[in-house]
Amino acid sequence: MSVSGKKILIAVSGGIAAYKIHFLIRDFVKKGAEVQVIMTPDTEQFVTKLSLSTLSKKPVYSEFYGDNGTWNSHVELALWADVMIVAPCTANTLAKMTHGMCDNLVIATYMSAKCPVFIAPAMDLDMYAHPSTKQNLEMAEDYGHFIIPAESGELASGLIGQGRMAEPETVFRAVENFFGNINPVKSLEGKTVLITAGPTYEAIDPVRFIGNHSSGKMGFSLAEEASKRGAKVILISGPSTQTTDDKNIELHKVISAKEMLNKVFEFYDRVDIGIASAAVADYAPKEVAREKIKKNDDNLTIELVKNPDILKTMGEKKTHQFLVGFALETQNEEENAKGKLEKKNLDMIVLNSLRDEGAGFKNDTNKIKIFTKTGKKEFDLKSKDKVAVDILNFVESQLLK
Ligand code: PMT
Repeated sequence: MSVSGKKILIAVSGGIAAYKIHFLIRDFVKKGAEVQVIMTPDTEQFVTKLSLSTLSKKPVYSEFYGDNGTWNSHVELALWADVMIVAPCTANTLAKMTHGMCDNLVIATYMSAKCPVFIAPAMDLDMYAHPSTKQNLEMAEDYGHFIIPAESGELASGLIGQGRMAEPETVFRAVENFFGNINPVKSLEGKTVLITAGPTYEAIDPVRFIGNHSSGKMGFSLAEEASKRGAKVILISGPSTQTTDDKNIELHKVISAKEMLNKVFEFYDRVDIGIASAAVADYAPKEVAREKIKKNDDNLTIELVKNPDILKTMGEKKTHQFLVGFALETQNEEENAKGKLEKKNLDMIVLNSLRDEGAGFKNDTNKIKIFTKTGKKEFDLKSKDKVAVDILNFVESQLLK
């Protein structure tokens, strides 16, 4: 179910995140929705009516009365809407909404609305963590509104923490999920997501192994994002220093590719979405020396044998699972990624190239392209937490099709 033909009322309040609303309007208009924007009087300090009305193709209202003495009826606006989105929702607007302090057009419209209300808060980290904000968000949830939590990152103040408005794509996805009868904020509720993460270590002798530089960060970020969306998460990680205290995540630690394969297939039948972000060693020593190998000779030859391809096996045994692979490439990136999508029977593949600065191993950032059998989408360099948001948004958009 899409948002096409739906009437979307976007109420903007005065915060720096108001700039993101341009992208949100564009997303809705592109998908065929009708968008009406209203704003609090202070919002004009941050964005102009002209830019918002150009994108929404409708006049933008901030006062009860127009210049020519017309009345901008909050009741009509409220009853027109199929959904109302308050974004960004400042601490002030949130407090007014929850306590009925009806001193501007946005609050009057909100209080007249009978449709579902989505709230995307945005403020500095200490304001977001303040007990009054927490209480107001809980009250708003009790009123039946959908809260799209603020994200963590660098804030306008220069401080780093939770308070940034969710990305427009996340707000859009929540509303799209709502029209698709999916819980907008717990969009993966009832789903089991299995994620492989980290490297594998293939023993040579009791002290040495063949491994790689994977830190596990990408996989752990995916697990935490899937958990936030209400999924039951099974995270199978090779040796990694990453940890999680998220109770929705069932963490299984393994060492080698064979152990990872066995662990995956303990759960595979009950998995809805499988995401293979692990950097699995393609080869392992044929024999593992029982004692530490002594450095007697100038040369040492270790015979390697092919490891099982875990993801390919998942693809071969696929019944109902939606399968996401990763491709870590250094050359012919797109061609190789598309080849793996086909060969491993995947629904989508995430390409990261070591030729892109800040992408791939170890870093806290990644830069990805996503391929399906019919499409391609490219993303900017972002933190791995945000890349996880992009990947799961994309997965959800495919599941909705
Ligand atoms: O852990 P980080 O430091 O955060 O780094 C993240 C990452 C770079 C490891 C991650 O983003 C990534 O790219 N993971 C896949 C790395 C890889 O092994 O790519 P590949 O192109 O060799 O493998 C293709 C796919 O097959 C992958 O989904 C891989 O998990 C899977 N595979 C590969 C070999 C094998 N024997 N079994 C597999 O399941």
